[in-house]
Amino acid sequence: MEGERLEDDRARFLIRYAGGFAPFVVARAEGAWIETTEGRRILDFTSGQICSTLGHNHPRIAAAVERALEEVVHLNSWMLSEPVLALAERLAALFPPPLEKVVLLNTGSEANEVALKLAKMHTGRFEIVGLTRSFHGLLSGIASVNFSMAHAGYGPLLPGAFALPAPYAYRCPVRHCDGTCDCTCLEVGFDLLDQESVGSLCAFVAEPVLSAGGIIVPPDGYFRRVRELLDERGMLLVMDEAQTGFGRLGTMFGFERDGIGPDLVGVSKTLGGGLPLAATITSSAIEQDCYDKGFLHVTSHVSDPLPASAGLAVLDVIAEEGLVERAAARGEYMLARLRELQAQHEPIGEVRGRGLLVGLELVEDRESRRPADALGAAVTRECYERGLSMNIVRSQQHANCFRIAPPLTVTEAEIDLAVEIMDASLRAVREPAAA
Ligand SMILES: Cc1ncc(COP(=O)(O)O)c(C=O)c1O
Repeated sequence: MEGERLEDDRARFLIRYAGGFAPFVVARAEGAWIETTEGRRILDFTSGQICSTLGHNHPRIAAAVERALEEVVHLNSWMLSEPVLALAERLAALFPPPLEKVVLLNTGSEANEVALKLAKMHTGRFEIVGLTRSFHGLLSGIASVNFSMAHAGYGPLLPGAFALPAPYAYRCPVRHCDGTCDCTCLEVGFDLLDQESVGSLCAFVAEPVLSAGGIIVPPDGYFRRVRELLDERGMLLVMDEAQTGFGRLGTMFGFERDGIGPDLVGVSKTLGGGLPLAATITSSAIEQDCYDKGFLHVTSHVSDPLPASAGLAVLDVIAEEGLVERAAARGEYMLARLRELQAQHEPIGEVRGRGLLVGLELVEDRESRRPADALGAAVTRECYERGLSMNIVRSQQHANCFRIAPPLTVTEAEIDLAVEIMDASLRAVREPAAA
């Protein structure tokens, strides 16, 4: 964590890939809890890196991995195995037609990158459009349409990347709405795009809820309008369901809410339940066209059996335990508890979210809405001290929005405990003498 020192001297052998490290070392994890080497238990309201949606170390995932270790872990990339065939079939059945062709990959960046490669090869065009405050991964191709962070310092990005203003009603990017987005930002964005394009508009990529950008929830009907605008231009829709796929928003996929059909979908984090597993899904028509044109994405770990086995266990548990419905119910409970907290704390400017992906934005005061970055850092530290891990997302120079994303298996008692810790932490930071 920024501003805290990790005492373990062995960290000097690590490249610091994200600022600092947490000020403790983890020994084990189970369910919604992690335990440090010093025996401290911490409630993990980030689900690891938003991957452990079944909770940490789910016994069904452990059993699937053990079975794979006995059967087959890794193969030459053109050889298929039972878990890979079974997972592709299961995924194809989960998506609405015509989405029925799957490639099994490793990370979210890779799944989105593959989606864009397929989109470019299929359309023969190269211009890709994303939203400001978006995050799709940190490999250079996909990072070209990451507009929340990570552009400066790495040299040229891909040509033909465009940003449209994100539908962020609390801080309207076109200074038009307040509280409820009426999609003016989208219309303005496409007006600009049409004037900037060199006539090679290929695809639009978006998260159903912008997560790293500050839990920005597009209004109902937003993606229906996106679909119309794309169809008018012959563009493809790519949905990045890295965080939202398989139940987190209280629906199996985030795109379901608007009843639209994407052309390509990237899923990742939540599919492996903590193991590196991702997939790109598309239609037979796009797959056939790209195959005919010589599509190539053969990597060392494409179609690996071991993570596919874990993915099958994740899908089984989600279905058997009704975790999609549970995420919807627990999400409503969490939103209600956080809105009670907001009523008691002036600096909580807005609480927003869907299902179990909730943002809590801190401001200096509700009138000015100035982002309260220092308060965010202090509350994060205080929460750690009191046994709760939550992260503040950093987007466009500010870090003032908590992203709250417990496992879908979280209990109401664990949500109550987290809210209690947040309450006590906010009080301790705002009124140190009274705490
Ligand atoms: C919405 C979204 N897409 C893509 C990615 C990239 O995934 P990965 O880190 O597995 O490459 C992330 C990672 O945080 C993400 O949140």
